[in-house]
Amino acid sequence: MQIKCLIIATYFLIPQLIMADQNFGIAVHGGAGVMKNLSEERRTKIEEKVNETLTKAYKILNDGGTSMDAVEFVVSEFEDSPLFNAGKGSVYNSNEVQEMDASIMNGKDRSAGAVASVRNVKNPIKLARKVSELTEHIMLVGDGAYEFAKNIGETIVDSDYFYSEKNLKRLRKAKDKLVSSNIIHDKIGTVGAVAIDKNGNIAAATSTGGMTNKMPGRVGDSPIIGSGTWAQNGVCGVSTTGHGEFFIKYQVAREVCARMEYMNKSISDSSEEILMELKDINAYGGLIAIDSEANISMPFNTHGMIRGSVSNKTNINVAIY
Ligand code: GLY
Repeated sequence: MQIKCLIIATYFLIPQLIMADQNFGIAVHGGAGVMKNLSEERRTKIEEKVNETLTKAYKILNDGGTSMDAVEFVVSEFEDSPLFNAGKGSVYNSNEVQEMDASIMNGKDRSAGAVASVRNVKNPIKLARKVSELTEHIMLVGDGAYEFAKNIGETIVDSDYFYSEKNLKRLRKAKDKLVSSNIIHDKIGTVGAVAIDKNGNIAAATSTGGMTNKMPGRVGDSPIIGSGTWAQNGVCGVSTTGHGEFFIKYQVAREVCARMEYMNKSISDSSEEILMELKDINAYGGLIAIDSEANISMPFNTHGMIRGSVSNKTNINVAIY
């Protein structure tokens, strides 16, 4: 009888004790770039939005919610804000249209969903998650992604929803300025989040409007699993921001985790080294990364990166420079 009780106690209690030790936390970004002209007013608004969103996301994790729910929440909040280049605040392509990219990955089983060049969908990140959970595919693009969104009842909005005088001015400036390379790498860029929950599950999510004056149909790194987004339980979760073409060529998100996995590097060494290497080839941007102990790294090789983090072992921290 005593032995039986001991076996039952061991079976039920030990996993709970292990779980009690699991660190959890979240990091977010709102783009990297040259932020010298950021007005005091805009800076304050951005910092407040990041702070408020992080606080709510931490509550999701602290209440026992999943890392997938936390990262989706953050990214959809940023998509609903005109302050960031994603969702509502997305920049215009050369046809004066917003084409958006997003992806999400669950480190528990490497399931992932992505949408690219999608129009009129209010929250591309929610659609990306639905691609992962409701289809046998990982990425849907353009009209197919739009049809899927309509069929499953995702919120579709009119083009007016994305209208921005400021973004239109930037497009016209870009068009007037140069003949060949006239794409603007927007200073307020892509948004993303990485998190680990109380069960040790890691998730990552990224969303963007891309670059001002990009060619119609251009897809950046944000919806590419391994480039803009990566999540792998036991190793790390990464979301990137920056010049997408380089982040695709160097598979940056996966590379951070690969160096940790195969070279035993810490999350900060791995992330910082890669950003330095990218700078050497004039590839600019940044990333946020979280490991299985909720250690967080947020390096960038640009003038600034909108970022924030909080975990059960560290206080909330929001910064731009
Ligand atoms: N990193 C976002 C993009 O290049 O589209």
